[in-house]
Amino acid sequence: MKNERIGFGSKLGAVLASAGSAVGLGNVWRFPYETGQHGGAAFILIYLGCIIFFGVPIMMSEFVIGRNTHCNTAGAYKKLAPGTPWKWVGFLGVLTGFLILSYYSVVAGWTLEYIFEALGNAFSGKTAAQFESSFSEFTQDPFRPVLWMIVFLLLTHYIVVKGVDKGIERSSKIMMPLLFVIVIILVFCSLSLDNSEKGLDFLLKPDFSKVNSDVFLGAMGQAFFSLSLGMGALCTYASYFTPETNLTKTAFSVATIDTLVAILAGLIIFPAAFSVGIEPDKGASLVFITLPNVFQQAFHGLPVLSYIFALMFYVLLAIAALTSTISLHEVATAYLHEEFGITRKKAACMVTSVCIFLGIFCSLSLGIMHNVKVFGLNIFDLFDYATTKIMLPVGGMFISIFVGWYLDKKLVWSEIMNEGHLHRSFFKVFIFILRFVAPIGIALIFLNELGLFKIIEKALTK
Ligand code: PHE
Repeated sequence: MKNERIGFGSKLGAVLASAGSAVGLGNVWRFPYETGQHGGAAFILIYLGCIIFFGVPIMMSEFVIGRNTHCNTAGAYKKLAPGTPWKWVGFLGVLTGFLILSYYSVVAGWTLEYIFEALGNAFSGKTAAQFESSFSEFTQDPFRPVLWMIVFLLLTHYIVVKGVDKGIERSSKIMMPLLFVIVIILVFCSLSLDNSEKGLDFLLKPDFSKVNSDVFLGAMGQAFFSLSLGMGALCTYASYFTPETNLTKTAFSVATIDTLVAILAGLIIFPAAFSVGIEPDKGASLVFITLPNVFQQAFHGLPVLSYIFALMFYVLLAIAALTSTISLHEVATAYLHEEFGITRKKAACMVTSVCIFLGIFCSLSLGIMHNVKVFGLNIFDLFDYATTKIMLPVGGMFISIFVGWYLDKKLVWSEIMNEGHLHRSFFKVFIFILRFVAPIGIALIFLNELGLFKIIEKALTK
């Protein structure tokens, strides 16, 4: 099986596909609203800490597992730790992938509706209140968003079925540079608006009075989500890496590109929002209500610019989302294809069908099914909370323990050093972080959220 497996043709392909997985709605949609709700720069600092201490080492660990085994994520644990419960970490990843893909495709579908609207110049002349009402009308509609979600999943399906080299690698090589160019243009446009410096202040000047346990959990979850970590997406991609790929360098490149795009997205959204007096804590609707309004108001006398700015932005969002849904889809497709011996096409059909089914509920939970609540959350929010704030960090914690404590250090060393062909490495630091810093850090953030420290503090002050 190992020799028949097609992989990425080049090192650049490996970096761009992994960066494509990482850069997505997480950067452009989720990061700004989490930052806005958690007080700006202080949140970003904690987020950066999570990227360095959890993100990069756990990404390297996923790369080690994937490239060493050349297997889908569940198969990889079975191969490295046969007959042990470690295989459940792989299954947890596949399950997490299904859940994320289902609600992620709903939002990805919205970007298609907005491209459609931008193309037809539907934003022109609308007021802030009209943007708000048309967004909630649209997301509560029982048909349109469901249809777009299905279209998005079919697009993803098409590329995944084309295969790793001709589908995933080729599309990433076109889409990632295009995305970067669009982001840079938009940042310049946004920074040139009146009053944009208030947005910059919000992004750059930390206000620590807003930091509480939720901010830590939010920043950690966002770091895992944004880097596509904790569920085997990058482990699956690494199984297609060539033996020459430098895992440390690739992990640093992907983390840098991902963080850069998130900050640049902040530089597009906050200066633009402040320039027209919109509050940054608008939540999940920031890029769908605030921004189209901004596009209208910002270029008052120049409707052509409003048109182009809006269209470019939603095309960017759709491209970023597509390179991520591909990686989510691939986790489950590779798993079904390799573990159950069915063709890639059949496996992909199964994944697409299940996600359409779950996605329908996620979409309807924002409209006619909004009364269906589990733990006080609708299905959409439940999927987001459970995956981002629980399943991904738990997955990440197990991955760091697996590579730090369970795996043979010689195997890990040989993957990180490409069997001795590389010279400089941070191998000892890497293992130390995996053994102690990452698992203990993640556990402390969970305990903090559960209120344990507050209880201890109270007990001590009594
Ligand atoms: N990292 C992607 C984003 O930021 C989302 C994602 C999460 C993709 C987990 C794959 C796995 O949009």
